[in-house]
Amino acid sequence: MTNEVAKGAGTGAAAPRPVDPAALKPRPPKSKTPALTEVAESEGAVTRRAFVWHGTAGFITVLLICFMRFFFPRALFEPKTRFTIGYPSDYGFGVDTKWQQKYRIWVCRNASGLFVIYARCTHLGCTPDWKPAENKFKCPCHGSGFDADGMNYEGPAPKPMLRCHLEVDATGQVVVDVLKLYDYEGATGFKTRGPASAGPLLAV
Ligand code: FES
Repeated sequence: MTNEVAKGAGTGAAAPRPVDPAALKPRPPKSKTPALTEVAESEGAVTRRAFVWHGTAGFITVLLICFMRFFFPRALFEPKTRFTIGYPSDYGFGVDTKWQQKYRIWVCRNASGLFVIYARCTHLGCTPDWKPAENKFKCPCHGSGFDADGMNYEGPAPKPMLRCHLEVDATGQVVVDVLKLYDYEGATGFKTRGPASAGPLLAV
């Protein structure tokens, strides 16, 4: 036997290798479902995509809001300076305070006619209160007092309150202009300028 092997080896022929029986077993077919690592990778890709989409959508939304903001400027809307207050017959004798909050005026009527007082104290500019029981305007800041015509008579206010320009429009309504104010001019009073239908006093 030893001699035969030695003889075979001497001729150079390779000895057959033993076959592993496990290699002859049929292998199970490859699963079609992706491996766990593939699923995790694809889920990661979806999450990244969603993140990018949401980020982009949020950015565009913010840009749109900023753009729309231009159409709503931070403007302070002041009340109109020229406006109508109705017909002269809407006002009886005395002081009417219904426009004080909106336009800072009082509409007054006496034997001379209709006039409008600009509700600003002539001391330092506070808005006085109308005290009907005392028939006077009283400034809450430093105590100045004005009678029903707006004439100062107590406290530090140096002069009467100003009066607004009045006109009657084509419909017969009273138009007030608070940018045209009349100052008291001593003995001549609040002078009427222009036609009788315009100025600080309407003889109605
Ligand atoms: S502001 Fe009216 S009394 Fe001073």
